[in-house]
Order: sequence, then C-alpha cells, then structure tokens
Amino acid sequence: MGRQQGKLKTEQGGIVVLDFGGQYTQLIARRVREQQVFSAILPCTAALGEIRKLEPAGIILSGGPSSVYDKDAPKCDPAVLAMGIPVLGICYGMQWISKTLDGRVEPVERREYGPAQLDLEQTESEILANFPRTMRIWASHGDNVLALPPGFHLTGKTANAFAAMEDPKRKIYAVQFHPEVKHTERGTEILRNFLFKVCQAEPKWSGAAFIEESVEAIRRKVGAHRAICGLSGGVDSTVAAALVHRAMGDRLTNIFVNTGLLRKNEFEHTLEMYRERLGLRVIGVDASERFLTKLKGVADPEKKRKIIGREFIAAFAKEAEKLQKGEAHGEIKFLVQGTLYPDVIESVSVKGPSATIKSHHNVGGLPEKMPFALVEPLRDLFKDEVRRIGRDLGLPQEILVKHPFPGPGLAVRLLGEITAESLVKLRESDAIVTEEIRRAGLYEKVWQAFAVLLPVRSVGVMGDGRTYGLTVAVRVVQSDDAMTADWVRLPGEVLERISARIVNEVPGVTRVVYDVSSKPPSTIEWE
Ligand code: XMP
Repeated sequence: MGRQQGKLKTEQGGIVVLDFGGQYTQLIARRVREQQVFSAILPCTAALGEIRKLEPAGIILSGGPSSVYDKDAPKCDPAVLAMGIPVLGICYGMQWISKTLDGRVEPVERREYGPAQLDLEQTESEILANFPRTMRIWASHGDNVLALPPGFHLTGKTANAFAAMEDPKRKIYAVQFHPEVKHTERGTEILRNFLFKVCQAEPKWSGAAFIEESVEAIRRKVGAHRAICGLSGGVDSTVAAALVHRAMGDRLTNIFVNTGLLRKNEFEHTLEMYRERLGLRVIGVDASERFLTKLKGVADPEKKRKIIGREFIAAFAKEAEKLQKGEAHGEIKFLVQGTLYPDVIESVSVKGPSATIKSHHNVGGLPEKMPFALVEPLRDLFKDEVRRIGRDLGLPQEILVKHPFPGPGLAVRLLGEITAESLVKLRESDAIVTEEIRRAGLYEKVWQAFAVLLPVRSVGVMGDGRTYGLTVAVRVVQSDDAMTADWVRLPGEVLERISARIVNEVPGVTRVVYDVSSKPPSTIEWE
C-alpha cells in the first residue's frame, strides 16, 4: 500500500514533522494544518529521499521522551540539517540539534515539566520577533543545552535552561518548550512565524482544494473500473464514500451491513439517509439473525469481537462476490476505506508503544483472496479535517456530529452473553440516554453518551410489588481524541430524567448508575 502523501498539489510545499516519539507529534502536525499548510509525519529515521519527495518548505523535529545520551536515543540523519530546508527543533529536537552540531547537552538533576517562564534575550529573532520580554511557556525536558553549537545565538531562556536559539544563516531554529500546546503563550505565533516568515510556506491546504484534487486523483486511479465501499453509519466511511461518489458516481456501490448490534432504528434511518439525501447507491444487508446466532452463549469480550469481525467480513465478502458476478459493465477492482491519518501513522509505528493501544478497534482486514486495490481518500486527514471535508461536501449535520460508535456495536456495551431480549433493553435504554442528552442541548458538546447493560440484578419496588431486575450504567464522557477522557458532570435534572425514564420505560431494568471513571485508568467502553 503506497503512501499517498505529497501527491496532491496542495500537499507540496508543506511541513515534514520528523517524529522522535513525542506525545505531541500529532498535535504539531495538526497545528500546522490549522494554518492551512499541509503537514506529514515521518519517522525520525526517514531517508533524505523520502523527505525530499514531499518537497517540504520546512522541517520540524518533534519532542521525545528520550535523553540524547540514551543508548537507543532516536536520531535523524544529520544531513537533514544541511538540506537547505529550514528546520525548527522542539524540545528533544533542540537537544538533538545541539548535540549533533557540536553544542553541549547534559542531563539535568531535576526534570523541568509543566509551566515555566521564558525570558527573551535582546537579540534579533525571526520566530520570536516583537514578543513581550517574558512569556508563559509549557516545558518538558530532562536534558539541558549547556553550550550552543557554533553559529547559534541565544534568543530566550528560563530560570534553569537555555530555552530558544537560532542560526538564521543556516535557517535552523530551536525551542526547548512546546509551542504546539495551548499553555504556551503565543505558541501559535511562533509556529506561524516559522511557517510563513522563515519557510515562506503558502496557506493553500484547504477543504475545497483537497476535494477538487482528491476527486481528480481518484478518477485517474480508478479509470473506468468499479469500486465498492463498506459503510458503517459513522462519519469516516460516509465522507470517504461521498468523496469517491463525487469522483465516479454510481460506479461506486456501497454495502451497509446490519449486524443487529446497531442503535435503535439506526439501520433503517441511516440507509434512508444514504440513499435519499446523499444519493449513494447502497445495498443494505440484514445479517442480524446470523450475528445473534453466532454470538449465542459467548460472554468473553475478545471472543465476541472476533466473531463479529469474522461475520462482518463474511457478510461483506458475500455481497461483493454477488456483485462481482452480476455486474454487466466492468470489473470491481477497488475497495474504498475510510482510513484516517492517525491509523496510517500508527500502522507505520511512528508512535512507539502508544501505537498498539488502538489496534483492537479495527474490525479486521478482508481475506487476502479478495483482489481489491485500496482507495483511501482520507488517509492524509485528521478527524476534525474529515468533518470539515464532510461539511464542504454538503453532508447532513447529523452525520458530521454523530458520536463515535465501536465497530462491534452494542455487543461491547452488553456485558456477558447477548440475547435478543437483552439487546432490546440496551437499545431502549441507549435511546433514552441519547434523547435526554439531546434535549439538554449537550449532544454536540460531549464526546460520547451511551448506556451499558450490566448482568447485575438487584431488588426494586414498583407499585406494591417487589422486582428483581437488571442494572443500566450511563456513561457520558468528554474527550479530544479518545486517548484520554473525563466523565461529564451532568446536571442533576438530566441524570434524574434519564434514570426515571429508563426504570419506567424499559421492562426488566430496576436500577440506573452513573459511571464516574475517567480514562485512564478506565476505558471509555466497558468491554
Ligand atoms: P476505549 O474503550 O478503548 O475506546 O477507551 C476509545 C474509543 O474507541 C471506540 N472503540 C471502538 N471502536 N471498535 C471500534 O471501531 C472497537 O472495538 C472499539 N472499542 C472502543 C470507543 O467507542 C471510543 O470512542
């Protein structure tokens, strides 16, 4: 699977971020794109040729958790500093530059972490020009630069460390703090100065240009052939399909599988939206009976996930085969997928240990014998960019703001064995949670809000009778990227309405509890 990066015109003249494994690497790339300049993350070990292929206007060296003195400290090719392309080193990036260009770097006794004050030197600086003499910054480093490399001058320092330096002749700049995080005052301006003053990048990375160029690139790639796409009801696959549909019209056939594990009315409702409002050609496959049969008696979460993944692919492959046989005009050669940039970055394992965290989320690949080439029009985009592209393509708001939903669906929110009856309970409870969150005007303000059905029975009383029913846990979280999440402090009245409605309207549920755990250490989903 070749990288698509750098093929579009709007992607040329962007920024290459070389990753030393820092936790903020993706954030750096996003901040650059917020300035309408394309950015691509490459591992720090990327060959010069690979960097050059992207024709970048500048290079940013990320932070990282290592010390430059660690045995396996990550390194770039030192020639990166002599390509004639401007470089900005951030944190570890600054330390690596210093060490590589014959400055002196030493481990410090006390790691500087968190807020600090930056005092600017009275020297000219291109990236700190016209800033106040002191600024709040966000730092996190364990090494210190003790002597600048020859050719550099100091532009800022903190109480404990040299914090900013530059060599304008070679166009190498470095800061020992994080301009990409919001806690750094004027951080965005530092990045803007680097992008526009130093690199003279053009702000041309826009939604409209991306759509236009992608449509052309897809047309070139697929020629007169046909393609299929699996829709999930979520924003990524929908935007991917809408974009490809714009390029090739009804030569794209979509398949939407009802696993029986979707939310209340979701299958019918989404299918109608795809067909009526987006004009997509979609085959709806109701495989819910089959999924339920295969899941019978299975309580182990990992087993459930595996079965669902396998069945999903089987259902999809069966439809694809039928289509392949029945098509009168031209073969189906391409499979459209809504892969996003974070998946791409993780799968080339730039991200180090954090890369594995999400791997279980993918429903799995298609069998190798299926002879499709991939079309992944979103593989250069971050989630917020996908939403923007969706908006530019005219997709309905409801799909753009829809909460994320796990591939295995309600199966991972119904603890223990799945039965038709328990699915009804969960689906109804979930619908109540969503309705009340919407009614309170909170749907678009929270990351996810849903119900979980627990196989825990407790005693209740209803009218004169004693009941013995199940428990529903309500989970509402706030998050930026699902890597961390905080539980939402819902107003008491909202919790009260949710709880009262669930116990009154969902037979067999006698108790409602609210989940007050954050991630980490808990996860967002319960299974
Ligand atoms: P966790 O539970 O790991 O979830 O904190 C993080 C985000 O990922 C979603 N999620 C999944 N998505 N397949 C998916 O497609 C899965 O198996 C899966 N498990 C969790 C979850 O809803 C949250 O947004």
